[in-house]
Amino acid sequence: MRILLGVAGGIAAYKAALLLRLLKEAGHDVRVVPTRSALEFVGRPTWEALSGHPATPEVFEDVEHVPHVALGQGADLVVVAPATADLLSRAATGRADDLLTSTLLTVRCPVLLAPAMHTEMWDHAATRANVATLRDRGVHVMEPASGRLTGSDTGPGRLPEPADIAAAALALVTPGAAGAPVADAAAHGAAADDLADATDPAPQDLAGRHVVISAGGTREPIDPVRYLGNRSSGRQGYALARVARARGARVTLVAANVTLPDPSGVEVVAVESTAQLRGAVHHAAPDADVVVMAAAVADFRPARTAGHKLKKRADGVVEPLVLEPNPDVLAELTAARRPGQVVVGFAAETGDTDGDVLHHGRAKARRKGADLLAVNAVGAGLGFGTDDNAVTVLDASGEVVASAAGSKDAVAGALWDAVVRLL
Ligand code: CTP
Repeated sequence: MRILLGVAGGIAAYKAALLLRLLKEAGHDVRVVPTRSALEFVGRPTWEALSGHPATPEVFEDVEHVPHVALGQGADLVVVAPATADLLSRAATGRADDLLTSTLLTVRCPVLLAPAMHTEMWDHAATRANVATLRDRGVHVMEPASGRLTGSDTGPGRLPEPADIAAAALALVTPGAAGAPVADAAAHGAAADDLADATDPAPQDLAGRHVVISAGGTREPIDPVRYLGNRSSGRQGYALARVARARGARVTLVAANVTLPDPSGVEVVAVESTAQLRGAVHHAAPDADVVVMAAAVADFRPARTAGHKLKKRADGVVEPLVLEPNPDVLAELTAARRPGQVVVGFAAETGDTDGDVLHHGRAKARRKGADLLAVNAVGAGLGFGTDDNAVTVLDASGEVVASAAGSKDAVAGALWDAVVRLL
């Protein structure tokens, strides 16, 4: 799910960093939109590093993407924490003087505001009227917690606990089952435990299973500084790892040149070339119940790798680059598959004059012999490096057994559902 986390300027802004962590650990894609004054308390690097996305208060940055409209239309859920008296006032009067308030006008998904301010400000008639207006419009405004405030004062106005905010927010989009996958709550201390308690955990249908996932794209060295590579970001493979972990699996993630943060509770084996990926996957596969080859593996590699940086020739002639085929790791895995083991491949297709994406996918499913093949269309803004994905899952005979579109986490969930049916 795509969650927009608004952060207004209050001392409790630091607690929003924990809220962000909890939502990410629960498997969601979170973008932070701070106000300018929020950045007085917690700076952009924190929001950007923790969310993996840019975090700006300005409407005039990145204008070619019309951010306030794009963010609003792309969000499944908005949470503002802390929502200060000023933020409540600006939201209630429909102001659009920064990216957060502008976005609040463009969103059509559920919105949860978690207020935090001094008791006097919360009790003030102006704030009471703003909260009433917002609630009348369908915005969910939490009651602040009571307790120690910024100074020595105590009373209502304290930001609710991050786990409570996360649970209340997720309950808005999944009534009765507030939990999207909660990743490895036990490994993340008390707050994550609170979240796990407060939300229904993901189905534990991969508990006791070992899954091996390859992700990213291999690089084939030409010389010490150059390589042949591809555009795979590893995001779909990482989503598969996160979701599998949340569903109880032990996960080994063979990551080829991925710059994403390691999913928590997952064993990550970093590799570069196809030879290294092949070694790591074959090392882990014999013990695995499921192997998913989500990596974009280079089909060819330079026949020889120079030990030194190749120089331009004085006569201007360019030496041809001689390639040789790489082994097909997926085909090796299907050949070596032991009874009960499920092997899943991915096929990124563009379609061409010989047939569309599905036509090529079906042919590949029959050729590769994997139990499942997830076919996705790439090119023209689809697939590589994007937030969303759409896959059609085929069995070994080329029959469609599932299809899924949406966030890469949602696609991962659908693929694991199809795998679980085979286990
Ligand atoms: N794959 C692999 N080893 C290779 C190439 C691909 O294990 N040397 C795996 C990928 O990880 C993916 C699947 O095979 O799961 C399909 O990859 P793709 O490149 O689409 O298949 P190819 O057989 O290379 O077909 P194409 O002719 O379309 O390139």
